Amino acid sequence: MKRTEIKQLLDFAKAGEKVEVRAWVRTKRGSKNVSFIALNDGSTLRNLQLVADLEKVEESVLQRINTGACIAAQGEIVESQGSGQTVELQATSIEVLGEAHPDHYPLQPKKHSLEFLREIAHLRFRTNTFSAINRIRHQLIFGVHEYFHSRGFLNVHTPIITASDAEGAGEAFKVTNFDLNNVPKAEGEVDFSQDFFGKETNLTVSGQLEAELAAMAMGKVYTFGPTFRAENSNTSRHLAEFWMIEPEVAFADLEENMDLSEDLLKSLVRAVLDNCMEDLEFLDKRLADEEKNKKAEERSPMGLIEKLKFVADNEFVRISYTEAIEILRNSKPNKKKKFDYLIEGWGADLQSEHERYLVEKHFKKPVILYDYPKDIKAFYMRLNEDDKTVRAMDVLFPGIGEIVGGSQREERLEKLEKRMDEMGVPKEEVWWYLDLRKFGTAPHSGFGLGFERLVQFTTGMGNIRDVIPFPRTPKNAEF
Ligand code: 4AD
Ligand code: MG
Repeated sequence: MKRTEIKQLLDFAKAGEKVEVRAWVRTKRGSKNVSFIALNDGSTLRNLQLVADLEKVEESVLQRINTGACIAAQGEIVESQGSGQTVELQATSIEVLGEAHPDHYPLQPKKHSLEFLREIAHLRFRTNTFSAINRIRHQLIFGVHEYFHSRGFLNVHTPIITASDAEGAGEAFKVTNFDLNNVPKAEGEVDFSQDFFGKETNLTVSGQLEAELAAMAMGKVYTFGPTFRAENSNTSRHLAEFWMIEPEVAFADLEENMDLSEDLLKSLVRAVLDNCMEDLEFLDKRLADEEKNKKAEERSPMGLIEKLKFVADNEFVRISYTEAIEILRNSKPNKKKKFDYLIEGWGADLQSEHERYLVEKHFKKPVILYDYPKDIKAFYMRLNEDDKTVRAMDVLFPGIGEIVGGSQREERLEKLEKRMDEMGVPKEEVWWYLDLRKFGTAPHSGFGLGFERLVQFTTGMGNIRDVIPFPRTPKNAEF
């Protein structure tokens, strides 16, 4: 008998067809004589209703079917009597592939909190919420490759183990095969010359520096890989292991870099709107229910789908850091006070409350901030004529804050070396990066898009731990 997936069946199957379905049981209800079993196999959000009666299926088999069990069911498609579905499957035989004991299976058919589901991340794929998120996540992964491929970009795999810290922030995880109870030392210091790579190495925080090397030969490249940061920030926007998309384009200036980031983000949002409407509608409703529990002033002014369309169809605002500071200085986030931090004035890094104020309250649109003070940005960003700011840009999104960070790169050797000296970045470690400024240097730009923040935005999920299957955060590496 022909085996079919539930999506295929619900979309195309006709009454009278005989098929086999293999899936997991979401719920079972009914009487002693007839059971109604809701089945899901992950191909769609929708469940298939399986009707099993004692005439065809033995009672001992029906008894072994509980929420969470996996079954193979053969039967005939019939027009559905109930509302909500068009067809159902009338079982002719059922084989239980794997039981799930009702006293021990943690995922019962009721609403579980997201916090609880994180503790059973090995099973949460089986919920509507997480299957919807993961289908959208897949669409975005596919959309990223499709976007770049169709525009002539080449994907490059940059190393995961590196000896450089691209962002210079010193928050990398060390990579070693030393016996940690007996680390070789020389003159009191760890002797990395005896380590596996003969030098100190870490998990990459960014593939940018290597992507730049590729762009200086291939023109347009992008990376899409895992990145690791040991920052101890337990927030709803930070992971210790996350995925980043980093395009790098030869001859592009900051303007073109901003154009690319805006176009990429809009295309990806559109791809989700075009291909994942069923899942979006589910998440939209879920979010609307959640919003009802919030105070009126904290409620989001737009629903999820409305928000995605708004972002896909409207131009992002572009203002300089200096203009942003001016706006913030003259703003009152609430009736009582201005932003405390602005006492520090020009030169300070923006906190997420400031970024979100600009996006959510002031402009009510995504905002691209550019030309940041050089002291709060990485060494590789191109210095402006004013000698105070660099050609940096951050894209800020509603509910998320920073989703993209990038810049035009400093292609002038002298200026780059000067910045590295000022910031204490060891030049010998990245001699190859400097070489590129000696041999055929050229203007170029790029950015990093935080993939999970994008998934967060497109699914409306409040916590980044819920948009990656197995989140890595401080004190948590389960599964
Ligand atoms: O702004 P970041 O640190 O920029 C870079 O790494 C550059 N090398 C990118 C480049 O120019 N090629 O990180 C880029 C993006 C951020 O805007 C944010 O979306 C995401 O990566 N990100 C994180 N996402 C989740 N968890 C974290 N801990 C993140 N840190 C950064
Ligand atoms: Mg950044």
